[in-house]
Amino acid sequence: MMPHDWTIGAANLESLSEILAVEEACFSAPWTRKMLEGELSGNPFAHFLVARPRRVEEASKQAILGYLCYWIVFEEVRLMNLAVIESMRHRGIARSLVSTALQTGVSQSAHRAVLEVRASNRAAQALYQGFGFSQTAVRPKYYTNPVEDAVLMELDPIVVGDAGSTGGHTSLR
Ligand SMILES: CC(C)(COP(=O)(O)OP(=O)(O)OC[C@H]1O[C@@H](n2cnc3c(N)ncnc32)[C@H](O)[C@@H]1OP(=O)(O)O)[C@@H](O)C(=O)NCCC(=O)NCCS
Repeated sequence: MMPHDWTIGAANLESLSEILAVEEACFSAPWTRKMLEGELSGNPFAHFLVARPRRVEEASKQAILGYLCYWIVFEEVRLMNLAVIESMRHRGIARSLVSTALQTGVSQSAHRAVLEVRASNRAAQALYQGFGFSQTAVRPKYYTNPVEDAVLMELDPIVVGDAGSTGGHTSLR
């Protein structure tokens, strides 16, 4: 599959099982089906983006390449959950997802973005630093399984430049 051979769009409840499978493959303490369901329906702040293969033949093998759950709470975008399947990493999919979320936030009058990330998760921290996020605080022993500090990161104001190429066709909700 060539780079940028994916599309980004809004997820719905039909994608729940596929998202759960990616979630369980990517995290040591995954969100449960109930938690994901709550974000996909019923949470008025939540937005849920998925990356899918552009080509039908690829989509029949692997329907979901990655996803990002984020909230827009008035002036703030909160990045809540992000994952890309292992075989499709390092192609810019996470960058596309984050970029789309930040652009949507700005279009809805948000000016700041925040997130929490495991202290050991250098890949994700590098991704966010690429957008200009910087570390604002550490919450000791915030995570479980394994117990680990959370690093809080913030981007204020939100500026989405070239770092945030959206890859392919983008549809927002
Ligand atoms: C973190 C994660 C989402 C990145 O997804 P991805 O699609 O591979 O990321 P991208 O290809 O868009 O990478 C964009 C930038 O992020 C950084 N990055 C991504 N993976 C990296 C790694 N393994 N090491 C260092 N930097 C990395 C780089 O700066 C990269 O830019 P570059 O390719 O120009 O060097 C993915 O590794 C993942 O799903 N990990 C498991 C779940 C997780 O940690 N989620 C985040 C929780 S906060």
